[in-house]
Amino acid sequence: MTIKNTKLDYGCIAKWLHWTTAFLFLAAYIVVYYRQWFTEAKTPENWTALQLHLSFGISIMVIVALRIIWRALNNQPQPEPGTKLEHLAAHCGHFLLYAIMIIAPITGYIGTGVSTEFFFMFDIPKFESTAMYQYLVVDGLGLTFSEFERPIDFIHKDILGAWLIWILIAGHAGAALFHHYVKKDRTLLKMT
Ligand code: HEM
Ligand code: HEM
Repeated sequence: MTIKNTKLDYGCIAKWLHWTTAFLFLAAYIVVYYRQWFTEAKTPENWTALQLHLSFGISIMVIVALRIIWRALNNQPQPEPGTKLEHLAAHCGHFLLYAIMIIAPITGYIGTGVSTEFFFMFDIPKFESTAMYQYLVVDGLGLTFSEFERPIDFIHKDILGAWLIWILIAGHAGAALFHHYVKKDRTLLKMT
């Protein structure tokens, strides 16, 4: 396996970044729904699950930054044969996946009123206690935290978390399986 991408395959770093992101998305979902469905408010388990969600989410923010840099330094493998429309759909799908990998952690971070105890190792200050919050939200927009938090939370939880991310990831994984089992091409093998 090569470090960089080749014409035929993604390299090991692109694969690692891809599958680590997929794992972190799954983990962020499991802990946040565990918190909502199986824990009582104000218990230690409830707090631990929240902190794990914040830690997985912030890890995605870091990994996506590395991923964008690595992508810019690499050529993408050649796409498998397909119509112009299929290639356009794949490009748009990948673009939207990058968009959610960026927007979900940012809306999560800026809309959360508690600091992150990053995997219980060190603290990352909440947005509300940063100079940027003071400059943009208080001085710039003239909003209180709860006024600012409401629309941001709506995007994070109700639009992205509850719907859009599911739809995009299910469509993406479904397309990969369709290529593998129906079209029987190398699309999935390039990434595994
Ligand atoms: C790609 C990364 C992330 C994904 C996919 C994600 C997804 C979600 C989902 C699915 C929910 C539950 C939505 C619902 O109530 O139906 C949620 C809630 C929440 N997220 Fe995220 N999130 C991410 C990153 C973050 C980050 C970085 C933070 C803060 C540092 C954060 C803070 C929160 C908070 C405070 C809640 C409410 C928790 C609760 O009500 O139990 N999220 N997120
Ligand atoms: C079961 C889960 C998943 C499967 C089976 C899967 C499969 C694949 C495959 C086969 C490719 C190569 C497609 C090609 O080159 O045409 C790919 C690329 C890609 N995947 Fe996934 N994937 C999964 C989860 C995810 C998740 C959770 C994300 C992000 C939210 C994601 C984002 C991407 C992106 C952006 C690309 C484009 C290549 C790149 O820039 O790295 N995938 N995926």
